[in-house]
Amino acid sequence: MRLLILGASGDQGAAQVQAALAAGHSVKAACRRPPLLEHATSMEALEWVSVDYRQPTTLAPAMQGVNVVLANFPSSSFNDGPTLVRAAMATGVAAHAAGVALIVFNTSLPVMETPRGFAAHDVRLQMREALEQSGVPVISLQPVVFMDNLLRGWAFPHIADRNRFVYPHEANLEVCWICQDDLAALMLAAAARPDLAGRHIAVGGPAPIRGTDVAAALTQASGREIRFESQSVEAFCLAMEALMQSRAPEERSRMIRELGNIYRWYNTSAERPFYVDMTPVLRELPVRLTSFAEWSARQHWRRE
Ligand SMILES: NC(=O)c1ccc[n+]([C@@H]2O[C@H](COP(=O)([O-])OP(=O)(O)OC[C@H]3O[C@@H](n4cnc5c(N)ncnc54)[C@H](OP(=O)(O)O)[C@@H]3O)[C@@H](O)[C@H]2O)c1
Repeated sequence: MRLLILGASGDQGAAQVQAALAAGHSVKAACRRPPLLEHATSMEALEWVSVDYRQPTTLAPAMQGVNVVLANFPSSSFNDGPTLVRAAMATGVAAHAAGVALIVFNTSLPVMETPRGFAAHDVRLQMREALEQSGVPVISLQPVVFMDNLLRGWAFPHIADRNRFVYPHEANLEVCWICQDDLAALMLAAAARPDLAGRHIAVGGPAPIRGTDVAAALTQASGREIRFESQSVEAFCLAMEALMQSRAPEERSRMIRELGNIYRWYNTSAERPFYVDMTPVLRELPVRLTSFAEWSARQHWRRE
C-alpha cells in the first residue's frame, strides 16, 4: 500500500510509520515541519511531507498517489474544536479529490455514537462525521488508554523517583490498556479491510486490569516494589493545571474543567469507556496483542 500517515511526528503516528515500513508499505509521513531533508530521504520507502490543517491547500499534494490515509489529529482537549472539525472536513475533501480508497481514523480516545457533553469526546465524534461525509470510505478505530502514557511526564517521574504508579483511575476501575504499537498494527490491519468501511471499532489491550495489576507488572519489570496510588480526579486536574501555566487563565480553567468532566466519566460511567472485549475485533483484525506485563518488561523504568 501507499499510505499517507497524518500526525506522523506524534507518538501515535510515529508508531504507525514504523509498523508500516516494517510491513513493507510505502509511506508518506505528514506533519507541519517535517524532519530535515537528509533524514527524510534516508529511507526510500519513506517520504516526509508538510501538511498544516490550518492551511487546507497543503493536503492535496500530500494525498497524491495515496491508497489509504491513516488519520491522526492533535488533541481535542487542548485545541479549538471547530478548527479540528474543519481539519477533518478538509482531510476528507482532499482525500476524495485525490481518489483515496480508504481513511482509517484514529480517534485517539473512546468515542460513543452520540455526544456525551465533553468537548474532547464530542469534537472527535464531529470529526468522525465530517470524515464520513466526505464520500471516502472510513473505518474508525477508537482506542482506550495507552500503556505508553506511563512513559510521559505526568506518570513516569512518580514511577522512576518514588516507586509509585500514580494515575487518576479508581481502585476498582478495569482498564484495557493498549500499547501504541498494537494500535498501529490494528490500523494497518484495518487499512487492508476496505469492506469494514463505516464501522466504529473500539480497540483495547488483551485484558482488563486494575491499578494494582499495573503496579504488580511494573514491580516485576523494574525489580523494585511499585505501589498503585489512585489519584483523585481533582488532584490530577491540579497537577495538569500546573503544566499549563503558559496558557491564559480562562483557557486554562476551561481545559481543566473539561479534563475533570471526562475523567469522571471514564471512572464512573456505566458504559465503561475503558473496557473493550477484543475477541470479536481480533477475528476481523487479526493482531497479536501485547499484555501490560510484556510491554512493561520492554521499558526502562529508571532515569538514565
Ligand atoms: N488514549 C490515550 O491514552 C491518549 C494518550 C495521549 C493522547 N491521547 C489523545 O491523542 C490525541 C493526540 O495527542 P497529542 O496531541 O498529544 O499528539 P501528538 O503526539 O502531539 O501528535 C499530534 C500530531 O499532530 C500533528 N499536528 C499538530 N498540529 C497540526 C496541524 N495544524 N497540521 C498538521 N498536523 C498537525 C503534530 O505534528 P507537528 O506538531 O510536528 O506538526 C503531531 O504529529 C489527543 O486527542 C489526545 O487527547 C490519548
